[in-house]
Amino acid sequence: MPTSKHQIGWIGAGRMGYEMAARLARSGADVTVWNRTRAKAEPLAKYGAKVAAKLSELASREIVFCMVSTMDDVRQVMHGLLEKPKPAPRLVIECSSISLEGSAELREMLKKRGIEYLAAPVSGNAKVVKAGKLSFVCSGPKEAFDLARPYLNLIGVNSSYVGEGELARIVKICHNVFLGVVTQSLAEITLLAQKAGVPRHAFLEFMNQSVMGSTFSRYKTPAFVNLDFKVTFTPHLLRKDMDLGLDAARKFEVPMPLASATRDLIQAMIGRGWTEQDFATLLLQQAEASGIKLKPENVEVGDGLA
Ligand SMILES: NC(=O)c1ccc[n+]([C@@H]2O[C@H](COP(=O)([O-])OP(=O)(O)OC[C@H]3O[C@@H](n4cnc5c(N)ncnc54)[C@H](OP(=O)(O)O)[C@@H]3O)[C@@H](O)[C@H]2O)c1
Repeated sequence: MPTSKHQIGWIGAGRMGYEMAARLARSGADVTVWNRTRAKAEPLAKYGAKVAAKLSELASREIVFCMVSTMDDVRQVMHGLLEKPKPAPRLVIECSSISLEGSAELREMLKKRGIEYLAAPVSGNAKVVKAGKLSFVCSGPKEAFDLARPYLNLIGVNSSYVGEGELARIVKICHNVFLGVVTQSLAEITLLAQKAGVPRHAFLEFMNQSVMGSTFSRYKTPAFVNLDFKVTFTPHLLRKDMDLGLDAARKFEVPMPLASATRDLIQAMIGRGWTEQDFATLLLQQAEASGIKLKPENVEVGDGLA
């Protein structure tokens, strides 16, 4: 445990928020959680977390984490949190993937209330959180990072401080543009190899051991081999991040041809109604476009997270 123990408030018990709050509560931190759909937060009580009935109850916590979906949602929950003039938390740590502009708006809103703010988006899905391998990228005042760090380290394996203001947001946006492009590329080459005669598990085993293999290619391998598309990250959320990347590219005048093409492939998936499964269904779309009828290979493959 950190040497000085703060009272923590936690907003958002979705796929990511739930597992992150669970790690914090299990490590002995004093956590009170609020989720719009209360039933999703209730199982956190078994790890020692308290569940708040009203969002404004979290205003008296010293540090409040936020993990929701979009900037519109962040705005809504922040208004609910700060509906009364007092009390107010000392520090808000915002972990959702949002734009630079949204993050700056939030900083301004919190500053007016005298609340410190750390932008702290993350890399890794809920399974990665559970395995203790989540990483944070943080920006804001260094003192805010120093205050947050012991708690970030209870949740994840690493927290990188990249500087003042909203810099962490562009790092996360770049990261997720890469996630989209890499997933599409992995789908293309896996199916090229398959159509030429190589089973997906054999191809991916080689790739995962090669210099091109990664934590990500390893943990997506079971989905690609056995076609388990239980959602880890939705196509809608990935499209949001590709759009954030392309908006930033327009602002900074950077061409992103691969990101643009990938964004439209994700859009095509959403347009055909493939929204309730994992974004790795990019593989299924690519298979259709390649004239391949995919079947699970039913081969046991690791995800590299154990
Ligand atoms: N999944 C991943 O692999 C992953 C990885 C890194 C970063 N991220 C980012 O992390 C964030 C959360 O992702 P997720 O996958 O955990 O999403 P999720 O499972 O859809 O959870 C979204 C959470 O936000 C809450 N929420 C949404 N809109 C709200 C509103 N208007 N008011 C109050 N609460 C609201 C939801 O409450 P309800 O339960 O009531 O719906 C839920 O707790 C996103 O910004 C995403 O881009 C996700």
